[in-house]
Order: sequence, then C-alpha cells, then structure tokens
Amino acid sequence: MKAWLLDGLGGIDRLRLADAPDPTPAAGEVVLDVRYAALNPADRYLAEGQYPARPPLPHILGRDGFGTVTAVGPGVTGIRLGDHKTILRGETGVSRWGTFAQRVAVSVEWLVDAPAGWTQQQAAAAALTYVTAYQALLQWGELPPSVVLITGASGGVGVASLQLGAALGHTMLALSRGDSKHQQLLSLGAAAVFDPESPTWRKQVKEFLKGRRVDLAIDNIGGPLFSEVLDTLGEWGKVSVVGRLAGPVPQFNTAALFFRRLRIGGVAVGSYTNAESRAAWQAIIDLLGRTGATPVIDRVFPFDQLPAAFDRLAQGPVGKVLLDVGTI
Ligand SMILES: NC(=O)c1ccc[n+]([C@@H]2O[C@H](COP(=O)([O-])OP(=O)(O)OC[C@H]3O[C@@H](n4cnc5c(N)ncnc54)[C@H](OP(=O)(O)O)[C@@H]3O)[C@@H](O)[C@H]2O)c1
Repeated sequence: MKAWLLDGLGGIDRLRLADAPDPTPAAGEVVLDVRYAALNPADRYLAEGQYPARPPLPHILGRDGFGTVTAVGPGVTGIRLGDHKTILRGETGVSRWGTFAQRVAVSVEWLVDAPAGWTQQQAAAAALTYVTAYQALLQWGELPPSVVLITGASGGVGVASLQLGAALGHTMLALSRGDSKHQQLLSLGAAAVFDPESPTWRKQVKEFLKGRRVDLAIDNIGGPLFSEVLDTLGEWGKVSVVGRLAGPVPQFNTAALFFRRLRIGGVAVGSYTNAESRAAWQAIIDLLGRTGATPVIDRVFPFDQLPAAFDRLAQGPVGKVLLDVGTI
C-alpha cells in the first residue's frame, strides 16, 4: 500500500510518501481501506518528538479516519466485509500505524458508526476532537446553563466545543484571531465572538455579559492568553486545559486562583477507557442530534498533498482539515 512514512522524530517535513506492507488483521481486528483521514495538531507534535509516544519507526501518523472493512481477523463478530466504520480513538497513529495510509488495522473495540445523515468526510473528522470537547465540557460534572469561553474556537476542538456546549444549553463565547471567521462562528452556535489580539477583548466580554462572568473556559491556546482568560472568570470559575498552541504560559499571579476559588483541570482524551470513549461518542451523537449540528470540514486535500494539509492546519482552519486517501 501507499503510506506517508515517518522515519525519525524530525518533524513533518521528514514525511515521505512510499510503499509500505499491507496490514493484516490480528485477532479482534479488522483492516479498513481508508477513505478519508483527518489531521490533528498531535500528529505534528508526535513527529517532532514533543509527544509522550515513541512508536517503532518507520511510523504512520493519523488518528482519525473513516473507511471500509476489507479484511476481518480471527474472533471478530458483528462486523462484515464492506461495512463502513469510523475510528473512535485509541492507539491508531500513536503507538501503531495510523490513517495516513491506504489501509489500517484497527481493533474492533475502537470502531464506531457515524450517524446516518453525516457525510463520509464528517464521519472521518469527528472522533478525536468531539470526544476531547466532550471531556472538556463534562469533566466538572453536568453544569447548569453556564457561560463558556473557548480559545482557538475555530479549530477542530473549538468548533466541537461550540456545538456541544450550545446543545447543552450554555452561552458560548468564542475567541478567534482577526475577524474573518467571526460570522461563521456565530452561525455555529457562538453567542458572541471576540478577537484575542484586541487589547480590549476582556472589556468587550465583560460588557457583553452585563455583570455576569465566565463560568468555564476551554483553553486550546495557553501562552500569554492564559492569564487573560483567567481574568474573565467569575467565582468558582473553571478552566479545562486542552492545548498549548501558543506555547508555555508565562508567569501569572496565583492570587487570581485563590481570591475567586478558580480551578484548573487538564483534559486528556487518551485517559478515557474504551467504555468511556464509546459512552462519550453516543452522548455526542445524541447532543448533536438535538440541534442538528454536524462536523465542519475546512478543506480536503488529495492524498499526495499531506504537507500542504499540515500547512493549512497551522494557518488556523475552521473545523477539520482532511486527507482524501481515495485519490491515490
Ligand atoms: N488534551 C487533549 O486530549 C487534546 C485532544 C485534542 C487536541 N488537543 C490539543 O488542543 C489544541 C487545539 O486542537 P485543534 O485540533 O482544535 O487545533 P486546530 O484545529 O489547529 O485549531 C486551533 C485554532 O487555534 C488558533 N490558533 C492556532 N495556532 C495559534 C497560535 N499559535 N496562537 C493563537 N491561536 C492559535 C486558530 O484559530 P484562530 O486563527 O481563529 O485564532 C486555530 O483554528 C492543540 O494544541 C491540540 O494538540 C489536546
């Protein structure tokens, strides 16, 4: 099969499109012919050695994908040749070969079905980001209708958080640099969108909330923005820390934490067990079904243009960037 091979942890510039052996399914596994694969920033982090995983090399990246079952391993029941499946999460693209390839072997416990109304691209795009967004929203228990602020709201996790938060009845505030994506984020469920590069964004949030404060922040960005986000929180405010696209957080005054009893909690989608991941997937589908929201696709790149797809991801998409593996 054709696959994007990573020979060392020297970054995504080192990926090469080459021939790789076809996977064979072990007991409890199937092989999928990958139709679409979705990119995630974690693919780049793994390629740069910035991620805990140290897979055997050469490695194939790609955690998300949708495809057709073309081989079934021993002991598999309930899945047949020709079935269409979505990869939920797990070791795919982390410690074992992933979806930036024509075929991938996956344990059946990590396969799910997407809702009937979704396109194949949407089915490939959703798993990692929506389960992450679900954990970020629900790790504090079921909150009453709250004000939720999302940084990096236009990205994969951001859009998923917006849609799920709106379906949960929260008032969703979005941060997105510049103003080019603001209208689209409003149409996806944001009550208001602010530019985090504006020196007055916190004042604008306070004016919008008319005396209320933010109850929960979902932070994909970190960096200097983090302490500004803390400033918008009210008493007992919470931060779900998802990512650090802007790097380490500079010093901040911990008085902000104790005066308002703020809580900071990390999100780790990989910490969900298989049962928790499957339960989250079902809850996500139910929530999206309430509002009719579906995953948002930013752009789809031909299989041989993975580097350009990573460039697009780094620019800041709206929703998910995909690879059309069927174009090879
Ligand atoms: N903890 C977990 O379990 C987990 C799971 C999944 C993802 N993550 C992490 O969560 C983060 C977000 O993932 P994602 O898939 O949503 O990423 P994404 O699709 O690349 O989107 C992130 C958004 O953040 C903004 N952004 C990008 N780089 C930025 C920078 N340097 N400074 C400020 N804003 C920037 C962009 O929005 P604007 O241009 O509109 O501002 C972009 O659309 C990543 O760090 C990812 O690794 C963590």
